Amino acid sequence: MPIVTVASPKGGAGKSTASIILATELAHAGAEVTILDCDPNRSISIWADRGTLPPRINVRSDVGESEIVKTLKQQDADGRVVIVDLEGVASRLVSRAISQADLVLTPMRATTLDATIGVRALALIEEEEEALGRAIRHAVVFTMTRAIKSKQHTAIEKSLRGQGVDIITPPLMERAAFSALFEFGGDLRTMPVQGKMEPAAENASAFAQAVYNRLVGKGL
Ligand SMILES: Nc1ncnc2c1ncn2[C@@H]1O[C@H](COP(=O)(O)OP(=O)(O)OP(=O)(O)O)[C@@H](O)[C@H]1O
Ligand SMILES: [Mg+2]
Repeated sequence: MPIVTVASPKGGAGKSTASIILATELAHAGAEVTILDCDPNRSISIWADRGTLPPRINVRSDVGESEIVKTLKQQDADGRVVIVDLEGVASRLVSRAISQADLVLTPMRATTLDATIGVRALALIEEEEEALGRAIRHAVVFTMTRAIKSKQHTAIEKSLRGQGVDIITPPLMERAAFSALFEFGGDLRTMPVQGKMEPAAENASAFAQAVYNRLVGKGL
């Protein structure tokens, strides 16, 4: 089953939020999902403890640098989608989680600073590709995007596409419902109404579908 590693050395890029949206949408569609909370700040565990975990999702927070490769190789065989949420750093743990991934997802705010730091994730992936002697599929998803795209966003997107970077559409929009995941736990279906729920739900579902499309053939 597929392993999705969510990685960016940029803090606050939207990694944990993207991990939760992906996990809850895939689980809603019927997949069994494990989220490995590999960030010492434990954002995913905080989310899990806030509310009731949606059906078909479990969270593990006991996997460190020395166990990550073995754990991911084992998980690969047990029929669950695995999503690895990482700290916003470059570390051996991050590199190891990247090395085992079927897809590395790099959430990125479309600002110059965030993109400059965010693209360092691509360098980490290249290093692992060189070490392994094979390609690792990766994609960027823009996060906290506003309805009207800024010039900066358009320019960053164009530049990344020009470098052959796969960009997930739709981006994850800036939505009250997405930030409220950490307040209420659970998913978009269980939380009290936060702003416009319908566009948030549509955005979450289309994002998860776009990720899913990149995982077809990986046991899903
Ligand atoms: N699409 C979004 N809409 C609204 N708020 C968002 C969105 N994505 C993230 N946020 C908010 O931005 C903040 C940072 O997001 P998140 O914790 O997901 O980033 P991160 O990359 O995991 O951070 P860290 O590097 O600290 O682990 C959080 O307060 C989160 O609720
Ligand atoms: Mg996080």
